[in-house]
Amino acid sequence: MKRSPFPVPFGWFQVAWATDIAVGETKPLKYFGRDLVLWRDEQSVVHVQDAFCPHLGAHLGHGGKVVGCEIACPFHGWRFDDAGNNTLIPYSNRTNAKGKIRSYPVVERNGLIMAWYHPFDEAPKWEIPEVPEFNDPDSFTAMVTRIYDVAAPWQELAENGVDSAHFRYVHNTEEVPELAGYETDGHIARMRSIQKFPTPRGVVDGYINSDSYGPGLSVVHFGGIVDTILMGCNTPIDDETCEMRFSFTVRKLGDDGFDSTVGDAFVAEVDRQVREDKPIWQNKAYLPRPALADTDGPFTKFRRWASQFYAEGVVDSQEFYPPSKSYPAEELELSASQRYGSAPIA
Ligand code: FES
Ligand SMILES: [Fe+2]
Repeated sequence: MKRSPFPVPFGWFQVAWATDIAVGETKPLKYFGRDLVLWRDEQSVVHVQDAFCPHLGAHLGHGGKVVGCEIACPFHGWRFDDAGNNTLIPYSNRTNAKGKIRSYPVVERNGLIMAWYHPFDEAPKWEIPEVPEFNDPDSFTAMVTRIYDVAAPWQELAENGVDSAHFRYVHNTEEVPELAGYETDGHIARMRSIQKFPTPRGVVDGYINSDSYGPGLSVVHFGGIVDTILMGCNTPIDDETCEMRFSFTVRKLGDDGFDSTVGDAFVAEVDRQVREDKPIWQNKAYLPRPALADTDGPFTKFRRWASQFYAEGVVDSQEFYPPSKSYPAEELELSASQRYGSAPIA
């Protein structure tokens, strides 16, 4: 039995936060079912390339050295440029044109490092938008981040957004967000929801606006009480496993203590929700033909939108796609800053 009918989708995916990689550093990554190397050259430009050196297979993310705007292999010192071309074999007068490394388009924007993955190496089909709130330190707080690994395919995590009924049953939220609109336009999906917030002065009408730019980035605006903006990034580790990253900012109200209290409460709530979702996602089967209620969210529209990102096609031959083992519920995972040992991005 297969776990998923879906291959890894194509799109822009977050592979790091900008602060995770300093000038001259190299790091190993594992995404898209591939071993990768992340490095920042001396002009501060970030690169993502396949990890294994075409000479004899050393991993460039384990001991590779940045030399100017090139990366040198730790094994025999071969060098490669940003396009993956071999530029130097230190013990030969020639280079090897066959020894080329696959390079992925990279953008560093909104404090995130995003790489473009396409199984057939096609060029990017859209751009990552600038999110003004993450580029406005006068009006918005420093970014707070969280990261989770989930043993479920990308689509199962992404589908959570349109599943309006689960909020009451999984998250026990008193007020369930009410779907006000769901539209797709090429690689973009826009969801509008009304959310009532209970406050000491009565119930306040709030809203949740979520804009997804392909499978890897959703920008979510929560409004009504305090403006909170979330970038939610799902990055496939492979076709059965996904990494989920959140980056938050809150509009400053002029009182640092209050701002961080609001931010902390918000992050704690999202943290709680992921912890509640995770055992469901990891243990559920994917059903290609679910039995839906008439009042369920726009699953069909969502799935049609998602299907455009599978360049390798979908092989759907099973009635359900179950996990191969069971996953116990677990404690809250480490935050990104705990995991990486770096401070949240300023
Ligand atoms: S394996 Fe990289 S230089 Fe030999
Ligand atoms: Fe959820």
